[in-house]
Amino acid sequence: MTSILVREETLDPGFVPPNLPGREREYRALEERYRARLARGVPYHSLITGGVGSGKTALARRLSEDVKDRVKIGGVAVHPLYVNCWRRASDRTVLLDLLRGVGVSLPDRGYGLSEMLDVFEQGIRRDPRHLLIVLDEVGALVRQGTKLVYLLSRAHEVGLGSISLVLIAPDDVLPFLDAASRSSFGVTHRLHLPPYTGEQLEAILAARAKLALRPGSFSPEVLAQVARTAAGSGDARFALEVLSSAAQAAEADGRAEVSAEDVRAAKGSIAPTLTEEKLTGLSDTALLVLLGLARTLKGPKSNATTEKVRQTYAVVAEEHGAKPMSRVTFWRTVKELERDGLVDVEPAASGQSARLAMNELPASTLALLVEERVKVGRSRKR
Ligand SMILES: Nc1ncnc2c1ncn2[C@@H]1O[C@H](COP(=O)(O)OP(=O)(O)OP(=O)(O)O)[C@@H](O)[C@H]1O
Ligand SMILES: [Mg+2]
Repeated sequence: MTSILVREETLDPGFVPPNLPGREREYRALEERYRARLARGVPYHSLITGGVGSGKTALARRLSEDVKDRVKIGGVAVHPLYVNCWRRASDRTVLLDLLRGVGVSLPDRGYGLSEMLDVFEQGIRRDPRHLLIVLDEVGALVRQGTKLVYLLSRAHEVGLGSISLVLIAPDDVLPFLDAASRSSFGVTHRLHLPPYTGEQLEAILAARAKLALRPGSFSPEVLAQVARTAAGSGDARFALEVLSSAAQAAEADGRAEVSAEDVRAAKGSIAPTLTEEKLTGLSDTALLVLLGLARTLKGPKSNATTEKVRQTYAVVAEEHGAKPMSRVTFWRTVKELERDGLVDVEPAASGQSARLAMNELPASTLALLVEERVKVGRSRKR
């Protein structure tokens, strides 16, 4: 079997990419801030916010790797610890993880927060290092009125040693912290990550595909098509899932290359956005245009010129005994389908006509679904 996913593990959620296209500026700012403070042995705290798949965790993990084991002045090394607080939304459970991180363990019961902190402090003292603690998905913990975040942000004053924090949440959680903790997260300590643009997603996909897939198994067009499926949300995770599942499908099929059809199928299986209801609401005219597009896209194409689709539409319309429509009506129908999220119109490069794409589901499946409905439409009329 031809293999496409030659280093599949590099697409795993846990893999920390060596570089972060589209976030170079943000990463540099973050890294410089920490590096400058850590070099002086001064703790630094920040909050990273942003939507799903905007690269928050990736940024924090990259930072952890890059400062790990670097010896700061005074001969103390930086030791990163990562805790995802999502399922551990209590100070005690988070602290249990941190204890393991400094090489001590306690049974999960019977100890109060302050006893646990004592043990934590002993662990740190046994092997003095500067801890860089990433608390990911910290929203619930903070909303519950955590004391731990306060204690960690004031580690030096409360005798816990030297600790820097990175908090991660979808949105600003600082208003939920007490004033004292809040004051250690000044304005320069916040980093908000906007959703990725289509271009940034393309760059991310290109970098990750180069790591994970066999050279020659994917084309720039396929990557651009994957990027478009996620451009609305700006979610890099979704884009990478689509890529990975399209590659798996091509591989399972024994093909050497990922095709446009694989991408549509992958998108359709991950997020079946095209519901049958969407089609049910369409006029016969719109259905025929969609059928024209589906037929044009069968095979390896990810998009086609408007002209080509209109020609196929004309054939389809004749087959179904419908009157052909004018260019203007055709275009208006296309724009309606675009609004319904069924068709993507890609703006024309100068001197060329616009191109139409459909990234919801395999073109062959769409063709079948539409054909069923066009018949229904006609029998109703009769
Ligand atoms: N700039 C980038 N370059 C390469 N890969 C990236 C980049 N940004 C994100 N990724 C990858 O996309 C996926 C999602 O990113 P990440 O986990 O950092 O998102 P997140 O903001 O933490 O999302 P969530 O809020 O859902 O946890 C990961 O596999 C990550 O490696
Ligand atoms: Mg995350």
